[in-house]
Amino acid sequence: MARNLQHSMLPRPDGEELARQRYVLALKTHLGRRLRPGNRVIWEQAAQPAFEREHGRAPADRGEIAEAMYAEPGYQAWSSLNRCAQEMMWEAVGEAVFRDSPRMREEYARLSGERAAGGSLELSDDFALPNAIRRINIHLQPGGYARDEDPADIVAGAFYEAGGALYSMGQSVGTRESKAELVQRFIAERHPGFRPARVLDMACSAGASSVPYALAWPDAEVHAIDVGPAMLRYAHARAEALGARVHFHQRDVVDTGFADGSFDLIVSHNAMHEMSQATQAAMMRESFRLLAPGGVCVHQDVPLRYSELDEFMRFERGWDLRNNNEPFWEAYATNDPERMLADAGFPQAQISVGYFEQIDGSMRWFLAAARKPA
Ligand SMILES: C[S@@+](CC[C@H](N)C(=O)[O-])C[C@H]1O[C@@H](n2cnc3c(N)ncnc32)[C@H](O)[C@@H]1O
Repeated sequence: MARNLQHSMLPRPDGEELARQRYVLALKTHLGRRLRPGNRVIWEQAAQPAFEREHGRAPADRGEIAEAMYAEPGYQAWSSLNRCAQEMMWEAVGEAVFRDSPRMREEYARLSGERAAGGSLELSDDFALPNAIRRINIHLQPGGYARDEDPADIVAGAFYEAGGALYSMGQSVGTRESKAELVQRFIAERHPGFRPARVLDMACSAGASSVPYALAWPDAEVHAIDVGPAMLRYAHARAEALGARVHFHQRDVVDTGFADGSFDLIVSHNAMHEMSQATQAAMMRESFRLLAPGGVCVHQDVPLRYSELDEFMRFERGWDLRNNNEPFWEAYATNDPERMLADAGFPQAQISVGYFEQIDGSMRWFLAAARKPA
């Protein structure tokens, strides 16, 4: 199920809005694929020699590499443009989201009223949003995941899906095997014949990765949790529009409130890199507690392992931490999911951590998976 899937909850850009979105996409693609590799050239040919001339030694760490790189006009230009392109992306998406939001709100009311696919939505009036979510416009998304202006607000979800689609097309993953499809293929290869009756998608956002489980296993009871209320309203209506029976709940991955052994399969997609290490570890513990004997968990995320990078690339890949409101970028890049899964209770022999390659593209996703003993 491709990321560019169409449904009635998606904001509908008019011609001019679409033209601006396409411009941003072209700009982001150019900055990411054509110009970004030049940052190493700037480092090797200008910043590093300048640092060594001044200090009489090589930079000790990525903090000193940053100091040297931010003094270079070429890197300054790339970094500023990259930041501007991210801001422009949300502006371009926001034009369509706000203009079209009366229609989307009506669509939300209709779809959540009819519940034609049989899904549900459970929000909590006194839910305590984690500070990290409440205080941050994550990756510069206006209002972040916590945005919630009124009881029918769906803007955060619309922003997330439309912005995410543009962002992922820039990384050429938009039309190819989705993260959820890849995880399903991983499960089929590792555990032939495994067919879950109850599935939980943790930190589901707009539900783009929850829906493929409901469609792949229509007999399964699929639940999805997140903390953002407007994200969940949108996710619920979106799933209904796509004919997928998913039960969405406003819950924290740290303490989900479900009973022990409630699920056969627990997944998360691109979630760890937006959580502190304490929250990531808690999500693994909660996965162990919530799995029934023989159950499987697969936590998928972006390929960002600092252990595989030299110190320059750690600085370079750390751009999002410094410039794109991604406070947990390094907490994820330096985490140890294998250890977290073992500490959560999974036997070492049942843990598998590593990359799994997209079947029809160049993307490889990072998977931290484990099975609870039967
Ligand atoms: C990058 S998005 C996930 C994308 C989504 N799984 C997908 O595949 O489209 C990260 C999500 O994690 C959620 N999140 C962060 N901390 C959380 C927590 N403690 N409990 C539940 N959800 C959390 C955020 O609200 C956000 O929606």
